[in-house]
Amino acid sequence: MRRDPKGILEELRSKAEKCTGCGLCKTRANLVFGVGPANAEVMLVGEAPGFWEDQAGIPFVGAAGKNLNALLQEAGLKREEVYITNVVKARPPGNRDPTEEEIAACRPFLQGQISAIGPKLVVALGRIAAGELLGRPVAMSREHGSLVDCNYAGVNFKLFLTYHPAAGIYSGRTKMELQDDFRKLGGILKKLGISSVTKQPQGR
Ligand code: URA
Repeated sequence: MRRDPKGILEELRSKAEKCTGCGLCKTRANLVFGVGPANAEVMLVGEAPGFWEDQAGIPFVGAAGKNLNALLQEAGLKREEVYITNVVKARPPGNRDPTEEEIAACRPFLQGQISAIGPKLVVALGRIAAGELLGRPVAMSREHGSLVDCNYAGVNFKLFLTYHPAAGIYSGRTKMELQDDFRKLGGILKKLGISSVTKQPQGR
């Protein structure tokens, strides 16, 4: 019999708390495992926790999180209806990119989350998440806004590619592209009949 996703996620979280698979366990303040319903139809995957996430133990609560919350509204999604996590569950010091070794050490946790939740659609926030999920390098400037079929951890789902929400802080152009992508995502979710879509995307 299939065990309940909530139980599987709790078990995975407690394994991640004890994990010493890379050096980040020594420098992090808190594990940032993931947040959201275990039966979410939509999952968002970022890169790695930053300073505020490390302090709170919750993904996307700093400046990038503020941007993400506004973008979710553009797509007609409520934050509490989606499951949010990162490729890497502990903060890389100084917010540097996670290394290949750190990504590999955390892989079983992302695989376990996706296999427990079984999302219909996953949003890759930035090239690191997209690269991990697709198993190939992704140039987001060329591929953002696209929807592709993905199989990860033996689970088939639609993968929507977009920039990392932090990229919208530094570039006005990327901010507009992110807004356009999330409006497009709203339309895709409706077409796929994903029930967590709560309101029409706003016009500019
Ligand atoms: N950037 C990420 O990729 N993830 C977070 O949780 C915060 C910032």
